[in-house]
Amino acid sequence: MWASQRAGAVPGSVFALMDAAKARARAAGRAIIDLSIGSSDLRPPAPVLDALREATHDPLNDRYPLFSDTAPLRQAAAAYLARRFGVTVNPDTEVLPLIGAQEGLAHLLLAVTDPGDTLLLPDPGYPPYLGAAAVAGLKVVPLPLHAGNSFLPDLNAVPASVRPRALLLNYPNNPTSAVVDPAFFPAVAAWCRERGTLLIHDHPYAELTFGAYRAPSALQAGLTGVVELHSLSKTHHMGGFRVGFAAGDAGAIAALARVKGSVDFHPYLGIQRAAACALTLPDEVGRAGAAVFEARRDALVPALRDLGWAVARPQASMYAWARVPGLTDSVTFAVRAAEDTGVAVSPGAAFGRQGEGFVRFALVQPPEVLIEAAGRLREVGSGQW
Ligand SMILES: Cc1ncc(COP(=O)(O)O)c(C=O)c1O
Repeated sequence: MWASQRAGAVPGSVFALMDAAKARARAAGRAIIDLSIGSSDLRPPAPVLDALREATHDPLNDRYPLFSDTAPLRQAAAAYLARRFGVTVNPDTEVLPLIGAQEGLAHLLLAVTDPGDTLLLPDPGYPPYLGAAAVAGLKVVPLPLHAGNSFLPDLNAVPASVRPRALLLNYPNNPTSAVVDPAFFPAVAAWCRERGTLLIHDHPYAELTFGAYRAPSALQAGLTGVVELHSLSKTHHMGGFRVGFAAGDAGAIAALARVKGSVDFHPYLGIQRAAACALTLPDEVGRAGAAVFEARRDALVPALRDLGWAVARPQASMYAWARVPGLTDSVTFAVRAAEDTGVAVSPGAAFGRQGEGFVRFALVQPPEVLIEAAGRLREVGSGQW
């Protein structure tokens, strides 16, 4: 009775089904290997925890943080963008702290769109995108990502009559693990300028890259008409801290600040200090964390290929995106896998229509556990789902 149309429009999540399946498996005495959630199992770097600990001793940090109090984090974010991507942003007008990229995106959509506007969204894509679009009352036009096109969008296939208010992309990509090269964003930004479209790039996996690959930033295509969302959740294993930042187009950042000003205060100052510390650490610290996920990739991908599943070797992110031969109902498959083997994975359909036929593995367990998970999945079989 008290749910708004807006609340009713937020799609339900199949992760509740998965939760129930895991609970049944646990009740049946199975040891669960949970690879269904992309929450890093590594700890934040020690100096980050020290910075937080130290900040808790200063009573001044207990106050509501004002915008001026966010200067150290904004400056650390600007320095990071300059060091890592060669991008110059004004920390006073082109950067804003977030309570994570997910919060930032939901409020950004409210800040830069009006109800009925069109949003181009990748399919498959991170499920909360659809909820955020529904809350903002947007008309979603899906942008299919196919293996045949390396899970990149084909913007030329978007009819000229579609002039979206915003285009949302995410590379390194969740769930497909796809990556882009430095020429990608300038081309996308040119398309967006042509259509009068704001380019929003969700970039939480910016530093979770393997081997020689380094992820580019959309801001390298210029700041006008571009907003990028950064997060400390994956890059520094700070998911529970709830902290990130938005950077880019000054008008969009100012609109986001106005909306957020009526919704929340900035993150706790201790968490801001910890995030600023993380962004200032030498790159090797981030590389060491990424190397852990790279070793897990090297364990899991061959084990899945042994099952006859088609899986690319990711160059980044914390996922493996596997096509299971003959799979037509990934939700039933994932529920059955959890119940029968204790291995929880994410069904591809949870990420959109184009995700059907796939399952996503989060690389959040040590290599030997990933190999055991693949072995257990052999029992579930393939070809009958
Ligand atoms: C693509 C994408 N965006 C955003 C998030 C959430 O980021 P944050 O923890 O900063 O809200 C995730 C988490 O899995 C993600 O995969």
